[in-house]
Amino acid sequence: MKNTVRDSSASLLLGLFSSAALAAFFLCFLLYLLWRLSFSASPHREPRRAGLEDEEGFVDILEERRRSTDLGHALRTFNPHPYKGASPCSMAELNKAVLESQYLRYVVKEIARDTGSSEEEVREDACGILEEMSQNLQMSCIRLMAYTFTKVFKRLFSNIFVNMEGLNKLQQAIQDSPVILMPNHRSYVDFLVISYILFTYDIPVPVIAAGIPLAGMKIVGEILRRSGAFFIRRAIGSDRLYWAVLSEYVKAIVRRGYAPLEFYVEGYRSRTLKSLKPKLGMMHMVLEPYFKGEVFDITLVPISISYDRLLEESLLAQELLGVPKPKESTMGLLKASKVLQEDYGSMHVNFGRPLSVRALCQGKINHSQYNLIPRDLPQKPTAEAQACVNWLSHLMVRIQEEGSLISPWSLMACLLLQAPITVLTEDGLVWHQLTEKTIWLKKLVLDFGAHLNWPGQVPDSDVMLSSLALHHSVVNRKGGRVYLVQEKEPARKHPVSPEEGVHITAAAVLMLASYRNQSLHVFVRPALLATAMHITKSSQRDELFTFFCFLQDVFSFEFIFIPDESSQDFQEACFLLKKCGALHITTQKVTVSEAGMEVLSFLQALLQPFIDSYQVMFNYLSEEGVHMLTEREFLPTVRNLASKLIMSGDLGTYEALSSDTQKNVLSALRSLEAVTKLSGSKENEYKVNTEAVRRIGDILSGKIPPQMLRTTPDARL
Ligand SMILES: *[C@@H]1O[C@H](CO)[C@@H](O)[C@H](O)[C@H]1NC(C)=O
Ligand SMILES: *[C@@H]1O[C@H](CO)[C@@H](O)[C@H](O)[C@H]1NC(C)=O
Repeated sequence: MKNTVRDSSASLLLGLFSSAALAAFFLCFLLYLLWRLSFSASPHREPRRAGLEDEEGFVDILEERRRSTDLGHALRTFNPHPYKGASPCSMAELNKAVLESQYLRYVVKEIARDTGSSEEEVREDACGILEEMSQNLQMSCIRLMAYTFTKVFKRLFSNIFVNMEGLNKLQQAIQDSPVILMPNHRSYVDFLVISYILFTYDIPVPVIAAGIPLAGMKIVGEILRRSGAFFIRRAIGSDRLYWAVLSEYVKAIVRRGYAPLEFYVEGYRSRTLKSLKPKLGMMHMVLEPYFKGEVFDITLVPISISYDRLLEESLLAQELLGVPKPKESTMGLLKASKVLQEDYGSMHVNFGRPLSVRALCQGKINHSQYNLIPRDLPQKPTAEAQACVNWLSHLMVRIQEEGSLISPWSLMACLLLQAPITVLTEDGLVWHQLTEKTIWLKKLVLDFGAHLNWPGQVPDSDVMLSSLALHHSVVNRKGGRVYLVQEKEPARKHPVSPEEGVHITAAAVLMLASYRNQSLHVFVRPALLATAMHITKSSQRDELFTFFCFLQDVFSFEFIFIPDESSQDFQEACFLLKKCGALHITTQKVTVSEAGMEVLSFLQALLQPFIDSYQVMFNYLSEEGVHMLTEREFLPTVRNLASKLIMSGDLGTYEALSSDTQKNVLSALRSLEAVTKLSGSKENEYKVNTEAVRRIGDILSGKIPPQMLRTTPDARL
């Protein structure tokens, strides 16, 4: 794993919340919804579950909102207890503190000296940056948002479940040290949802790191600012002054601790409904006050938000298919007053256990190195600090994954995708086979220790039927069989061309795939082991481990693995498969039990679409003798190639069409050094090492036996 240093480089912070611009869009959308709501009669949504608290200790916060008035809630007395009673800090105060900090003064002086401008000028620039950046949290605005959210959420969701235990722990943690809230980000809807919940439970509302809203969204930007968002540019590059202002701003918030700080460690909204590789820049800024000993401790609170159904589900699939940010479909989303009539099931917000950075970093950080230089001066992070930040960021993503709730529908999506495509589109999958298998899978998931969102008081068959009904946009049931719904544009008269046919089916498949993605993390480690066994046909534990590591490297951008913990991951895979009775494991051998075949073939089939998709791209790069490429050309070329292969019947999966998968292949090849970025090229040009790519493809298809992997000089390949 070589990502430690590279990842923390400036450029990667840039991905930061590119979607918060979209959050601005979402806000417009909310306001629009609110406006619509005032004209239309409300279809009353029945809460899905009776009773206030379910088996996992989640409470439905909409339940109470349905019983009292929305205005009453928005105007409730809000009486939070911040860290050490810290008084709220106004925008002006905070900005002043940043501008007058020793650190910023020092940097300003340096920049003035280096560029030959006067200190005054540089200071003025810094002021400008700060003005563009700063949040202006105001309770009146939070109340307005609370009012809007209550109205909209009641319309969209049956329930919003929150775990009270997590909230109570958070409440406590806020008294003890500065708190960082780290939610995942799957939908526009969840921007500000944490603030909404904290407001409801008298916990200080957070300030939130966000991307700058698009130009022309001044008003929305201002509303977000007053709701606590502060804005970060998307392309900072090597602007020293900007970095200095940003990091001092973040650190000032952490040090004062008057409000929790919220940011997305994944950087932006995941379009694939599974976790993204964490970005390290922000995490580093947040932790620096601890590394430098300016605060005694910092508390991290991972938060997992899970949805039964996403508002933007079809938009996501279109985006992945490279339909260029479809103006029409954005409009389509807006126009769809349908959105309001639809049911989106429940949202679960799971507040994780608060984690002490001090405890986590014990023995990993040597504070005395930080003490050599005065705190206020800029300082390059030490290698151990970088490694620690990298590790912590991955750990947080992993905990977010573990805290998310798996829906019955996601399990059904896993199974549906394993059926041949013609079954889904033409013959239909027999319903009772699907339900039987889903119940089998439910047991496996519980064995693997995942949180399952499967209501206990209702018969299983009803649970599955209502999941199916909720997702009528993806599948329907007719005559005891299940079919994939393929959206045909009603306006279109002329017959559909084969290419269009592929696109239409692909959109439906990718929608299904994104719901499968919600639960992939539960299976991924055992699935890698199952795949290693399938490809190598080996039962030698050490050979399987070698191949397992190879697969982890190849799929390092698809699934999140904590750096340098391959051997723990392998052990976990062995443990889980042994626990469910699928494998017999000794110190040297791994063998399948009789009952294990079903489990292993399910797991292996789960990864097959990825393997097939990767092979398409490896073949393209090695066989066509491509030596140079740009990302811009690569994506459409591969998409065309894949859709040709699908039409000719040579490729069984539509997932190779996902631009996300295509980009992940490129990133993985880069980290395996089979593709190198040409320095100094503007267009992101890459040089391809055809031999290396071919070798990776050969290993993946089992042409090179695993014994050969260890003998190569490159340790991992
Ligand atoms: C599902 O996740 C995989 C794994 O990262 C990704 O490559 C793929 O594009 C995702 N598919 C969809 C439809 O989101
Ligand atoms: C911490 O760093 C200081 C200065 O570099 C060094 O002298 C000391 O031995 C280090 N301590 C540990 C425990 O590594």
